[in-house]
Amino acid sequence: MEGLPTAPNTSSTRPPGPKNTRPWLGVLPHFRKDPANYLLNIAREYGDLAYMRLGPQHAFVVSDPDAIRDILITHQGNFTKSRMLERAKVLLGDGLLTSEAEFHTRQRRLVQPAFHRDRLVRYASDMVTCAERARDTWSSGVELDMHREMTRLTLAIVGRTLFSADVSSDADEIGRAMTQIFELFDTLLLPFSDWIQKLPIPPVRRFEKARDRLDKIVYGLIAERRQSGKDAGDLLSMLLLAQDESDNAHMTDKQVRDEALTLLIAGHETTANALTWTWYLLSQNPEVEARMHTEIDRALGGKLPGFDDVANLPYTGGVFAESLRLYPPAWAIGRRAREDYAIAGYTIPAKSILLMSPWVVHRDPRWWPEPERFNPDRWHPDEAAKRPKFAYFPFGGGARVCIGERFAWAEGVLVLATIAQRWRMRLVPGHPVETRAVITLRPKHGMKMTLEER
Ligand code: HEM
Repeated sequence: MEGLPTAPNTSSTRPPGPKNTRPWLGVLPHFRKDPANYLLNIAREYGDLAYMRLGPQHAFVVSDPDAIRDILITHQGNFTKSRMLERAKVLLGDGLLTSEAEFHTRQRRLVQPAFHRDRLVRYASDMVTCAERARDTWSSGVELDMHREMTRLTLAIVGRTLFSADVSSDADEIGRAMTQIFELFDTLLLPFSDWIQKLPIPPVRRFEKARDRLDKIVYGLIAERRQSGKDAGDLLSMLLLAQDESDNAHMTDKQVRDEALTLLIAGHETTANALTWTWYLLSQNPEVEARMHTEIDRALGGKLPGFDDVANLPYTGGVFAESLRLYPPAWAIGRRAREDYAIAGYTIPAKSILLMSPWVVHRDPRWWPEPERFNPDRWHPDEAAKRPKFAYFPFGGGARVCIGERFAWAEGVLVLATIAQRWRMRLVPGHPVETRAVITLRPKHGMKMTLEER
């Protein structure tokens, strides 16, 4: 990749970028076809700062790690979430992922204690129990869609850890609703989507139905808990009991619903994809798989893992980190500039969108020699120290960094270790493997794999 382009002396000039193919739509039709790879090609062709027009929006693709750090951390006050996440409000309301400014700071303060270390230790045992339950229902030689299995598993984990509830009976329902919701999101990214949303067309109707089904599940959990009046010590109780210091106000059912649904969705869809891609990568790299098995067998000696074992499984951690490098579930992070902003001498006008893509930066040969190679040895501390910090940012950064980052690391390593103690997965011959970048990076055709007992 080229590095940051050199700005000419006039501030009105835009950085290089693809020419508009349609007067109204800019490059939107090309972008929508395969957005992650479109951004990758743009960075390869035009360098670390490129301009493109997406419908009426001016968008800048930023791929220089230091410039990304400046946007996410140093100058974060100048940015809000981009349009894509604002759109998510139709589903998530004002939960952590979608809220802004003081309201976001207040909600983050209320939710944060649910992710403290002592809580994670407790969650870890739930993660392992759920993974053990899943691995014991499988049998040798069976063909499974690992994406579906991992979605069920991570949903069970987030349900159990954060809501003390067994949501596995609702898992298929939630899975179907999510698929329909993601389909409509494609449409919502179109220009004029504010109008589309109000039309009684089938995709909008399907979306609303799916949202109603999810609401029924979440309001059901809230009502049950309010009725029992019990403090179950989990996130849901915390949300219901939390009071703001300034006005002693409790959250309304709607606010609790927004936070609960946000965590239910943000907390399972991402990790399900990450684990699915990890099983795929392991199946394609048997020597890495064998080293991971050796580490797991040696560290655990056949016992189930606990939170403290995560530190004793550095290679397995490297496997998960490397999978998040090659298939980052949050494949792009977007921001919108409040005021004009300067990068490398170019002016980014207020209201522009800035797109930073882990999918792109994680494949940059300047930081990742042989970028397509799945090599967990890159995660040896000496190697990792040589790279700029934002050459790797699967969880974002700054005030909006993923609140579940440590939860996700623990979950990734513990689920891998628990399942790999017993099983190895092989891709069903001929099964097509392609990415589908919607909000998260999903396997387009699922992931059909055969189980082999170790
Ligand atoms: C591999 C798994 C995960 C990945 C790759 C991931 C990625 C991300 C990223 C990139 C962001 C920041 C988005 C932005 O700045 O625009 C984010 C935010 C968030 N994530 Fe995660 N996440 C993962 C797992 C989780 C889990 C397990 C939970 C909860 C249990 C969670 C809950 C959230 C929430 C609530 C936010 C919004 C935080 C805020 O704005 O204050 N995520 N995640």
